[in-house]
Amino acid sequence: MTDYLREIQLINFKNFDNFEAQFSQINCFVGRNGVGKTNILEAIHYLAMCKPYFYHNYEEDNIRFEENFFAIHGHYGSDEAGFNKFSCSLKSGEKKRFRSNDTPYSRLSEHIGIMPIVVVSPSDHVIISGGGDNQRTFINYTLSQCDKEYLEAVKDYTKTLEIRNKILKNAQYERTLDNNQLDGIDYLMALYGNKIRKKRHELCDELSQSVKHYYEILSSNMETADLKYETFEADDMLPILQTNLSRDLSIGYTTAGVHKDKLIFTINGKNVRNFGSQGQQKSYLLSLKLAQFDYICRQQNGRKPILLLDDIFDKFDFRRVCQLLNLISCEDFGQIFITDTHLNRIEEAFAHSEGSLSQDINKKMQILLLE
Ligand SMILES: Nc1ncnc2c1ncn2[C@@H]1O[C@H](COP(=O)(O)OP(=O)(O)OP(=O)(O)O)[C@@H](O)[C@H]1O
Ligand SMILES: [Mg+2]
Repeated sequence: MTDYLREIQLINFKNFDNFEAQFSQINCFVGRNGVGKTNILEAIHYLAMCKPYFYHNYEEDNIRFEENFFAIHGHYGSDEAGFNKFSCSLKSGEKKRFRSNDTPYSRLSEHIGIMPIVVVSPSDHVIISGGGDNQRTFINYTLSQCDKEYLEAVKDYTKTLEIRNKILKNAQYERTLDNNQLDGIDYLMALYGNKIRKKRHELCDELSQSVKHYYEILSSNMETADLKYETFEADDMLPILQTNLSRDLSIGYTTAGVHKDKLIFTINGKNVRNFGSQGQQKSYLLSLKLAQFDYICRQQNGRKPILLLDDIFDKFDFRRVCQLLNLISCEDFGQIFITDTHLNRIEEAFAHSEGSLSQDINKKMQILLLE
């Protein structure tokens, strides 16, 4: 197997006081509603991305009720190269800490990409139904795991955008504008913006191919899915900023740039957001996530991301889940974590899926019952 999470320990994390588990290639958490299945996926996500994915609450809310800290420890690596211990902890009122083999990271961003991850969750529907910010979050989440320069460019762009918006607001109130200062900021914003745009273009070209491929498999029909990156129409962002200056000054913020980028999702040329049925939207989202998986895997020189599949039966009917399990249990995928409420249903779905899984299912898969 590729790199994988061998074991995890949660201390005072959400509803767990002390939870330990060892993992296989395919791991299914099964238990009734509210038992803590998604919470375990959340802990795994913390170890990979240093932040939550499933619950957008205050991070201190992840500390078990009546306690004053949480800690997550995990061993990630491969049987050949050995394992590293990663730890994330948060004490009430203090800063979150992240350690690799008990040595603190100076910046959390140093860790991003070391433990690549892809998440499929019911909450992902906002990528299609929500505004451009959700799509940019998806893009940034993908690229940040593959490209440190991109991550830095986004941080720098965001900082300069804030400064530019402040200059515009000040100009509105004080009726004066420091043109030299604005020119300097525009130059920097365009520099970072052009870098970001180029990377996003490359990503979207690749995603588009994979989305077509996976949508065809998952929908078992002749529909063609596609994805388009929508950004400013010019090779350079600098003239865009300059052209829009008078409008920006009257509104008080920057109206054009990569902070307005969007993704357009289509099936047979029609926008999935406006015209897709619920089933089409779900299949599209899953295709998008599998395309994200392929992209990260290629960029990581074949290292396969961990795949978290929360509530798969929320997304699909039985036949579709079998198709999905069939797809992800082949050699192209690595370690997988699945949650479901019904033991019979998940066992039956695995029994129905064919391919490499059925040959040595017991070696590859374990069911962890939560009570
Ligand atoms: N800080 C906390 N301390 C203690 N318990 C918490 C804390 N935060 C959340 N919980 C508990 O965690 C439970 C939710 O866990 P989780 O979302 O993982 O459930 P689940 O097994 O995924 O359920 P479902 O099948 O409904 O998705 C709730 O019962 C909630 O009260
Ligand atoms: Mg859940």
